[in-house]
Amino acid sequence: MTIGVYYYPEAWPPEQWERDISNIKRFGFEFIHVGEFAWAFMEPEEGKYDFAWLDRVVDLAAKNGLKVILCTPTPTPPVWLVQKHPEVLMVDDYARTMVHGTREHATWSSEVYRGYVAKIVTELGRRYGNNPNVWGWQLDNELSHYGKNYDYSEASQEKFRHWLKDKYKEIANLNRDWGTAFWSQRYQNFEQIRIPNEREYVAQFNPHSMLDFQRWFAENAADYLRFQTNLLRRYTKNQWITTNFMTTHREVYPTLSRNDLDVMTWTIYPVHGQMNEGPLGYRLGNADAMSFMHDYMRPLNGLQGIMELQPGQVNWGEVNPWPLPGAIHMWILRAFAGGARLVCTYRYRQPLYGAELYHKGIVETDGVTPSPGGREYMQAIKDMQLLRKSRRPNALEPREYAARRAALLYNFDNRWDLDNHKQTNRWDTMGHILKYETALKSLGCPVDVIDESVDFARYPFLIAPAYQLVDSQLIARWTKYAQDGGHLVLTLRTAEKDRRGQLWEGPWAQPILDLIGAHIPTYDVLPGNLSGKVESSGKTYLWGVWGESLEPRTGTNVLATYADQYYKGNVAAITRRLGKGSVTYIGVESLSGELEKDLLHEVFERAGVASRNLPNGFYIEWRDGFWIATNFTENAVPAPVPTSAKLLIGDREVPPAGVTVWMEY
Ligand code: GAL
Repeated sequence: MTIGVYYYPEAWPPEQWERDISNIKRFGFEFIHVGEFAWAFMEPEEGKYDFAWLDRVVDLAAKNGLKVILCTPTPTPPVWLVQKHPEVLMVDDYARTMVHGTREHATWSSEVYRGYVAKIVTELGRRYGNNPNVWGWQLDNELSHYGKNYDYSEASQEKFRHWLKDKYKEIANLNRDWGTAFWSQRYQNFEQIRIPNEREYVAQFNPHSMLDFQRWFAENAADYLRFQTNLLRRYTKNQWITTNFMTTHREVYPTLSRNDLDVMTWTIYPVHGQMNEGPLGYRLGNADAMSFMHDYMRPLNGLQGIMELQPGQVNWGEVNPWPLPGAIHMWILRAFAGGARLVCTYRYRQPLYGAELYHKGIVETDGVTPSPGGREYMQAIKDMQLLRKSRRPNALEPREYAARRAALLYNFDNRWDLDNHKQTNRWDTMGHILKYETALKSLGCPVDVIDESVDFARYPFLIAPAYQLVDSQLIARWTKYAQDGGHLVLTLRTAEKDRRGQLWEGPWAQPILDLIGAHIPTYDVLPGNLSGKVESSGKTYLWGVWGESLEPRTGTNVLATYADQYYKGNVAAITRRLGKGSVTYIGVESLSGELEKDLLHEVFERAGVASRNLPNGFYIEWRDGFWIATNFTENAVPAPVPTSAKLLIGDREVPPAGVTVWMEY
């Protein structure tokens, strides 16, 4: 894993570039990242390009032995462009046209905009595609419209209608799949359709049209990335291409770009005022959300990394606290444990002007003194140098670790559809999924977050949390997976709907009933902060978000039952053997996530596979011959380092924000 830094030469006096770049090298960084917002400097007037400054930066980097990640500057079109072509500007849900002055205000649907993008990307590709000092490319920057989410411009309206025509061919098919008999929504032709926009509706939106729009929007974003990739690939030699996705954004779907990009990267700011688990969570970040991103991005095409990681306080949270000393170092090693190939920090220098004034850098406002976060980066860089010496890239995964390998089945269709109709304001789709990530991590499992294109048989354990939209092929695959010896865990809300988002004409969740060996006649949700009780193996847990009552058939074993409410004694979780494997259904979400952890632990036990019992947030992973423990909890935790092991980093007792790395022989 290599570590680098964002640098904005266009924002600093040219006479400081040499000093800055040689300091970056001296601090141990191995690459710089430049150019993603510099369009106005690359093309100051239409068709007049200026790359002399960028040539000099690339040369300075090379002279100092630093690689360069070069970016396409497309999030920030120059003012002359949008003045000449206001039709490239995106339109928000209030029908307001966005203006020049920030970023991501152009629509990716506009052919006019794409025309300008094609020119600047082509110029860049021609000039640097064969430059050995340019290591790789980043397309755009956090492709999104930030808090504006979706674009409602005429260009997008038109493209969406095209997509619908392609998908449905006849308007009757769309009317059927969107259920437009409801409220006389019936359409006569595709021209009558507009992007569903809650601001324009008197009452609730049609969930099927919304789901289609979300699918189209994500495909359009992927298409825009592909468009840039294809342009660059005409010129690039031995360079890779990525874009920096966002962790929390739901509008742009990384999975759709897995075959277009060489490396999957993303941006993450673990500390920006949210509380997270435990009293120090607001200074340590969320271990599970970080784990999930690695586990999701790594399997997509095998290469992944963090393109932006904060070096200290940020400026854009509602509260921007200082991370706990050590936390930044821990995140970097956490990324290593998660399989990252690169970590890049945002940013080298703290800005002295502009919208991100309070954002910390690797160096302080004087431009030369390392910040506390900068020093943690330097420590992590030294650690990487140390680990490189004893790295065993071809070592086989320890057998007991590999035996626990689990897959979480995940896609954005389910996320969109669940979020579109939550049925309780306590429902949190990612929160539900992360409870299972947490449980698996604390059982010490290696986890891959996969989608349906992957062969399930590669995983001894497969968990599909709240997998709402299904079809008969998927049910057949799940069934075969368990029959052949896999251990399948399904959770509440799974298989409630078909892929269009419509309910089944039959019993609730009909397609999985034979598979799980039960009926699901009812579910309950509790308002406010009320909680109900559920019991399993003599332990009591609280729930409140979602609780299904199951009616098991013979041959199905009960794992948990409700302990109060008028349906006390009803069944909440079950399991059964199927062929050589097993199927477990967990119909309730506990408030703490402990029930999920205990039930998964039992799945492993029944399967005869040993698991660990780690505190939430204290995780141990294996990579390249190393065991890496990182501690996101508020307590010191002993790491299970055998006496025969070689301790490489940290101590046997891991303090909060601490890291311990060891090797076993
Ligand atoms: C990221 C963004 C960067 C910068 C950073 C500040 O989300 O990609 O350009 O704005 O936030 O923390």
